[in-house]
Amino acid sequence: MIENDDLQHISSVLTNWYKKNKRDLPWRNIHDPYRIWISEIILQQTRVAQGYDYYLKFTQQFPDVQLLANAPEDEVLKCWQGLGYYSRARNLQAAAKQIMTQHNGKFPSAYDDILALKGIGEYTAAAISSFAFKQPYAVVDGNVFRFLSRYFGIDSPIDSGAGKKQFTELANSLLDKQQPDLHNQAIMEFGALQCTPTNPDCIHCPLETSCFAKEHDKISYLPVKEKKTRVTHRYFHHLVFICGEETLLSKRSDKDIWQNLYEFPLYESTKLCSFEEILMERNWLSELVKLNSVHVSYQSKEIKHVLSHQIIHAIFYVINTECTTSELSHFIPVKIEHLNKYPVSRLTEKFLKKFSENLPYSKNKYIFTAN
Ligand code: ADE
Repeated sequence: MIENDDLQHISSVLTNWYKKNKRDLPWRNIHDPYRIWISEIILQQTRVAQGYDYYLKFTQQFPDVQLLANAPEDEVLKCWQGLGYYSRARNLQAAAKQIMTQHNGKFPSAYDDILALKGIGEYTAAAISSFAFKQPYAVVDGNVFRFLSRYFGIDSPIDSGAGKKQFTELANSLLDKQQPDLHNQAIMEFGALQCTPTNPDCIHCPLETSCFAKEHDKISYLPVKEKKTRVTHRYFHHLVFICGEETLLSKRSDKDIWQNLYEFPLYESTKLCSFEEILMERNWLSELVKLNSVHVSYQSKEIKHVLSHQIIHAIFYVINTECTTSELSHFIPVKIEHLNKYPVSRLTEKFLKKFSENLPYSKNKYIFTAN
């Protein structure tokens, strides 16, 4: 049992440290729940340095709940392009619609109503409740887990139900109920800047002398995780058809990575395949080869695209063809010059960048030359 005085002391050390060391970030010192919400969703699994520009762009393009709720989904995903975890963007819009219908467009202030919004879990609900409405809910994110586990010497796995409960209870008992907004910002910032995952700067830490992990040489051991992340390998072959000034896209609709983003027609396999092997698997493509002068003008090298739980091994085949788009009618014909309007994964974005750099326009036909 930790004494109340000790908890108060730790909280005040954290807030004093925060006042001296905090980063000046645009979502701080504001009380607009909408903007706080957007910042917190962006910052999940995204570093501040990367999230910063996205936050500014997103809140400029969608400055309030109503504009977000009514925007075409493609525009929301386009704005999110490159951030990853696209379900976060889709959920943001679904929650904005929920706020329009269930709360007359006004962001709810009750913790349970916030928690009931699509895509909002306990962490985000606590962040919005405390930052926007000064309500006493402790945030428990990766930074907080790390600080608490090290400082108090708790080795319960942070990814177990029991561990989460234990850390949440401790975080709530440490919370300064008079200023939950300041306290929550402080403890997260302390974890992010001072009690860092590797090589924390213990010499300059204001809590060094009372830290369990420091005293017992357990810094690299804490926090403990129960499960190892399993990584699966996937093999993507993208067919980049060039039909005059047009190409073809498809929209990913399955419950899978990159749902509702666009991509070049995909052949997924259990290994990387040559174009001939793909032809054997895809009848419509070999029919096309028989009908037309189909010509693979470029084949990319294997591109490895690393996601949190998957490694995508991708090859792009650029296929010049005489086909009219109706022959491939289940795909979406798109003018090549309009490709940049479509939300795509970072993998496709990287390919497109190279693609557009290498597009000489010749005899009314795009010819792709790789360098
Ligand atoms: N990470 C998550 N939320 C944050 C915040 N409000 N400020 C800085 N980093 C964060």
